[in-house]
Amino acid sequence: MILVIGGAGYIGSHMVRCLLQHREDVLVMDNLGNGHRDALLGAKLIEADLRQREQLDRLLHDHAVECIIHFAAYASVGDSVKNPSKYYENNVAGCFNLLEAMRTHKINKLIFSSSAAVYGEPVTVPIPEDHPKNPTNPYGETKWVMERMLQWYGQAYGMRSVSLRYFNAAGADPEGLIGEDHDPEEHLIPVAILAALGKRDKLKIFGTDWDTPDGTCIRDFVHVSDLAEAHFLALQALRNGARTNAYNLGNGQGFSVKEVIGAVQKVIGRTVPVEAAPRRPGDPARLIAGSQRAKAELGWNPQYPEIEVIIQHAWAWRKSMPNGYRS
Ligand code: UFG
Repeated sequence: MILVIGGAGYIGSHMVRCLLQHREDVLVMDNLGNGHRDALLGAKLIEADLRQREQLDRLLHDHAVECIIHFAAYASVGDSVKNPSKYYENNVAGCFNLLEAMRTHKINKLIFSSSAAVYGEPVTVPIPEDHPKNPTNPYGETKWVMERMLQWYGQAYGMRSVSLRYFNAAGADPEGLIGEDHDPEEHLIPVAILAALGKRDKLKIFGTDWDTPDGTCIRDFVHVSDLAEAHFLALQALRNGARTNAYNLGNGQGFSVKEVIGAVQKVIGRTVPVEAAPRRPGDPARLIAGSQRAKAELGWNPQYPEIEVIIQHAWAWRKSMPNGYRS
């Protein structure tokens, strides 16, 4: 059985769907703090919190778990700068509880949601996995601390893990069954769609004076279903004896905030109202993945690399669920 912690969230729910499509036996643990029950499409859910060690122990005692896929973390760059304590408590202390519970219950395979935020402001672009790690916000710092914990636990206790460093997760299930719904929504593509629909005020462009060709930040967008598939490949690798490793997941192509807004307008045929705003603390100017290792070693082959397709899928889900999971 594969345990997906945080499986009711955005990326976690696409992972659950991917595992079900591959006919895996799946169990979800989520505290439903940010997740949605309806995103599970009927997968079995146990409501529990990583910060409650006894809840974890009960769950792992009652179920024969082969591998854990861990998505449960706070993931807002801006919020982490304002409230670092939340991030150390939930992300780092929660991960510590998980690793200790895994030791107790002799579970030795883990796939971990890491982030491009571990690198900070890159010194080389595209960013290879061995690029220096200098996170510019507490969120990225906690992801890096957790990766280091996994490496040391692997060395000392024989736990094997794959950390997957996502660049900008976007899009939605190509069949439109699930999608992205955060509260508050802060990510660029869904915010642009909501602004175009009149469900949000103008989209604030955080900084128009960055050292980039059009002055706005550059990001590498990767389809959420392609991310899920990479986890499935990591699961196969761990089953085949792979050792602890970390991989970047992105498409190796950067789009500026203004270019993404242009693409959203083109795909949905509406204007996105925008206004210039100050830079958001903690944002790096440019993040573009070097993902050759994931392709070579995991056999990852993204199916939806085009930004227009990523936006089309995000738009299709939002059109069918105008109020998200509250529809
Ligand atoms: N942006 C705006 N206006 C908005 C929202 C976003 O200008 O209303 C800009 C941001 O400043 C950034 C870009 O659009 O330059 C993308 O922002 P997102 O919030 O969509 O994504 P981030 O790049 O901040 O975050 C993503 C992941 C994080 C990860 C981070 C790496 O969501 O988990 O990449 O820095 F840590």
